[in-house]
Amino acid sequence: MKIAMVGSGYVGLVSGVCFADFGHDVVCIDKDPGKIERLKAGVMPIYEPGLEDLVRRNTASGRLSFTTDLAEGISGAAAIFIAVGTPSRRGDGHADLSFVYAVAEEVGEHLNHPAVIVTKSTVPVGTGDEVERILSEAAPKVQFAVASNPEFLREGAAIDDFKRPDRIVIGTDDEWARGVLTEVYRPLFLNRSPILFTSRRSAELIKYAANAFLATKITFINEIADLCEKVGGDVQDVARGIGLDNRIGGKFLHAGPGYGGSCFPKDTLALLKTAEDFDTPLRIVEAVAKVNESRKRAMGRKVIDALGENPRGKKVALLGLTFKPNTDDMRDAPSIAIALALHDAGIVVTAYDPEGMESARALMPEVEMKDSAYAAIEGADAVVLVTEWDAFRALDLRRVKELAAAPLLVDLRNIYQPSEVRAAGFTYLSIGRG
Ligand SMILES: NC(=O)c1ccc[n+]([C@@H]2O[C@H](COP(=O)([O-])OP(=O)(O)OC[C@H]3O[C@@H](n4cnc5c(N)ncnc54)[C@H](O)[C@@H]3O)[C@@H](O)[C@H]2O)c1
Repeated sequence: MKIAMVGSGYVGLVSGVCFADFGHDVVCIDKDPGKIERLKAGVMPIYEPGLEDLVRRNTASGRLSFTTDLAEGISGAAAIFIAVGTPSRRGDGHADLSFVYAVAEEVGEHLNHPAVIVTKSTVPVGTGDEVERILSEAAPKVQFAVASNPEFLREGAAIDDFKRPDRIVIGTDDEWARGVLTEVYRPLFLNRSPILFTSRRSAELIKYAANAFLATKITFINEIADLCEKVGGDVQDVARGIGLDNRIGGKFLHAGPGYGGSCFPKDTLALLKTAEDFDTPLRIVEAVAKVNESRKRAMGRKVIDALGENPRGKKVALLGLTFKPNTDDMRDAPSIAIALALHDAGIVVTAYDPEGMESARALMPEVEMKDSAYAAIEGADAVVLVTEWDAFRALDLRRVKELAAAPLLVDLRNIYQPSEVRAAGFTYLSIGRG
C-alpha cells in the first residue's frame, strides 16, 4: 500500500520508516527543505537510537522516499497521515492547530483520488470534524474519510514502541477507513498488538487522557518523594511497594525533577483548555500541571540551598540537559528552569549532555557547555545529575572528587546508591530518599 506521511519530525519520520519496514511504500513529506535534503543524504534531523540504520535500509530498498512536494507525495496514496506539530498556542495554551489545518487545506487542493486522511498529530477533540470540513470544501468531488490514529511512541525508544505498541487506537465510524487502516497496521495485528476501534472523538480524547494520567502518576510520586524527605522515608521503596500492586503498576513512578518534553506539558495544558471550553473543569489535571511547573524551579532552589550561606559566585555543573535520556529533544526540559534559577541566584553554571547541547545552547545562553562530564565538573561546588543518561550511571567518583571544588552530588534521578556515594566522601542529596 502507498502511504504518505505529512510532517517528518519525531512522529512522522519514525512512523514513516516503520511503515516502510513493514513493506509499505512510504513517502515522507516535510515543508522544511533543509530537513528533506539531509534525510535524502542519510543525515537524521533528530537523535533516536536505531533510526539512521532503519532509514538507510528502507531508502535503499526503494520503499521509503522524501520530498517537500506535497502534491507529488500524496499522489496515489491510500492513506495520508498528518503528523505535524501541535505546540501550545502562544498566549492562551490551547493546542495550535494551524499546522494541521494548513496541511488539510493543501491536501484538499491536490487530492484527486480516494484516500483516508489520518490525523496522527495529537489534536483536541473535534479537530477531525474541522479537518473533514476543510477537505469537503477544498475537494468536494473526491471520496475521502478522516480518521484519528493517535501516536503513543516515546522518544528514545520510538522504533521499538512503534513496532511493538501496547495498543493501536483507530477512531472512525467509516467502514472503508477502518479497512484501509487495518491493512496499514496488519503487520502489527499479526504481532498481536491489540487494535482498538473507537469513534473519532473518543480516539482524540484517548491520547490526551493517557498523557494526563501518566503526568498525574509522575506528579503523584514526586509529591510523595517530598513527603519522604520530610518524614525520613525512601521514595524508591514506597514506589516499589505501591507499584507491585497490579492495579497501580510500577511504571511512571520514578520521582524526579518534574516531567518535561514535547508532550506532557503541552498536552495537559491543551486538555485543560478543552475542558474549560466545555465547562467541565478537570481539577486533578489542573493541580498536576501547576505542581509540575513549580517543581522545576524548586529543583534549582534545592541546589542553591545545598550550596550553603553564600551561593553567589559558586559554580554548579549540570549533567544531562535533555528532558530524558536517548534523545536530543530539549522541549520543556526541567534543566531549563533549573539553570535559570541557578543563574538568577548568581551561580556560574556549566553543563554537559551527550546529545542535547546544540539545541540547549540557544535555550540557555547563560550556561557554559563543556565537552565532557568531567570537564563540566572541574571546579564545581556541586554536581547536579539532571538527566539519567547511561554515561552518568558509573561516573568515576574518585575523579569527580578530585576535579570538583567540593564533594556535593545532587542526584535528581535517584540513580546512585546513597550509601556508596556517601562512602566515597560525598554529601549526597537525592529526591525523596531521606
Ligand atoms: N514527539 C513525541 O514523542 C510525540 C509522541 C506522540 C505524539 N506526538 C504528537 O505528534 C505530533 C508531531 O510531533 P513531533 O514531535 O513529531 O513534531 P516535530 O516538530 O518534531 O515535527 C513536525 C514536522 O512537521 C513539519 N511541518 C509543519 N507544517 C508542515 C506542512 N504544512 N507540511 C509539511 N510538513 C510540515 C515540520 O517542518 C516538522 O518537521 C504532535 O502533535 C505531537 O504532540 C509526539
